[in-house]
Amino acid sequence: MSNAPAEEIPAEEIDLTEANEIIDKYLTLPGNLMPVLQGIQDAYGFVPKPTIDLVAERLNVYPSQIYGVLTFYAQFHLKPRGKFIIRVCVGTACHVQGAERITETFFGRLGIGHAETTEDLRYTFEKVACLGACGMAPLAMVNDDTYGKMTVQKVDEIIETYNARPMK
Ligand code: FES
Repeated sequence: MSNAPAEEIPAEEIDLTEANEIIDKYLTLPGNLMPVLQGIQDAYGFVPKPTIDLVAERLNVYPSQIYGVLTFYAQFHLKPRGKFIIRVCVGTACHVQGAERITETFFGRLGIGHAETTEDLRYTFEKVACLGACGMAPLAMVNDDTYGKMTVQKVDEIIETYNARPMK
């Protein structure tokens, strides 16, 4: 596994076929910018820069308007994301129970920091606010799976588990 953060994907490596199909579907509908961007995010896992230029051109909107929407809504991502999104809660209860140590251990093991993605696109790491299960602090999640009472040993077990999962 590569431990370097993911780099930007060169523009020429983005296939715009799917983006064009999504735009075709909504082209004549009013208020089409949001559904188009959502469709692109679902298809690519993020909103690649070349698709923003394409949407701007085909929907006749300024790229700055599109960036405004993308940065306003947390659901949109401008960089590729990992297949497995690891979230560690740094809310008060988790902080008191040692969330910092858990976070640092993930950073050390994965070679990435907050809001970064491993180069092989397996993992994205995010610190998050209270996940609403403070009784299980410190808490981590990997996609929809919850891991309570986290320890350094559990960090290693989690990484072993998800390293063994197929990428497809
Ligand atoms: S503070 Fe972590 S789940 Fe509430």
